[in-house]
Amino acid sequence: MTAPPPELATLRDFLRWATSRFSAAGLSFGHGTQNAFDEAAWLLLHTLRLPLDQLELFLDATLTQEERGTVAAIIDRRIGERLPAAYLTGEAWLRDLRFRVDPRVIVPRSHIAGLLLDEALAPWIGEAEAIASALDLCTGSGCLAIVMARAFPLAHIDAADLSADALEVARENVADYALGARIELVRSDLFDGLAGRRYDLIVSNPPYVTGEAMRRLPPEYRHEPVQALAAGEDGLDAVRAILAKARAHLKPEGLLVVEVGDNRGGVEKAFPALPFTWLEAESGEETVFVLQQDQLPR
Ligand SMILES: C[S@@+](CC[C@H](N)C(=O)[O-])C[C@H]1O[C@@H](n2cnc3c(N)ncnc32)[C@H](O)[C@@H]1O
Repeated sequence: MTAPPPELATLRDFLRWATSRFSAAGLSFGHGTQNAFDEAAWLLLHTLRLPLDQLELFLDATLTQEERGTVAAIIDRRIGERLPAAYLTGEAWLRDLRFRVDPRVIVPRSHIAGLLLDEALAPWIGEAEAIASALDLCTGSGCLAIVMARAFPLAHIDAADLSADALEVARENVADYALGARIELVRSDLFDGLAGRRYDLIVSNPPYVTGEAMRRLPPEYRHEPVQALAAGEDGLDAVRAILAKARAHLKPEGLLVVEVGDNRGGVEKAFPALPFTWLEAESGEETVFVLQQDQLPR
């Protein structure tokens, strides 16, 4: 272990030290934070069991001898194992919603969550109460199903994934939010296990990483399940399959909402006849498209 220099005393000192070490080590971010400082703040506050939104209050607090060791150890693990902070802490956040995570599931970061919470779908669906049934296809940790349960108070929600491991994690998250009566977890290869089910709303954050991007993945992303990321050479395997079958699983006037990362160009090239509407996320990115039932291929 890299012993902390003796002149470090306060949380501020350790935060500065961790940020410098993370930057020097060339770590990658993107699993809930976007830079070395935010990653260090999250990791240190969690390790010291301090509230994540109270950094300022504790910056000048001196660490005990024992805490110096614990903090130095977690900094070493972040650098040595290249594990994202979400896997080291066992939790991830979408706004103020906490989800349990471990390497059985991808770390939640879907733009669909913010769009749902900001009611960006209101122009298509009207009142939130109008959604009686919804599907989170490729649910992973169950995060989007849980966000939907929050956004649509009357909806029954199916949360489907091919990975039994992911569904185990989703089960824990659904239990944390006491949503077992409203969210049904379904093991399904895309729509294969959902025969006869039709929804007012289908959301999906499917695998969409291209072959080239998979070969260039930073080490942090290699801890995530390959099945959650890889989607063939052009990244469209899952999107293609979803577009082919979604119409049959939507009610008339139902809505399909799909995230495709930075593959918008690839999607539009592959489906030039489809009238995609792209939604702008909080970050300004347009990675999520919407299609109505009658706009989908038969
Ligand atoms: C990008 S992750 C999204 C997880 C979660 N919805 C989120 O936003 O954090 C994609 C998920 O799709 C699942 N998946 C991959 N192929 C699938 C398939 N053919 N059928 C169902 N789920 C699949 C993976 O197991 C993974 O959990």
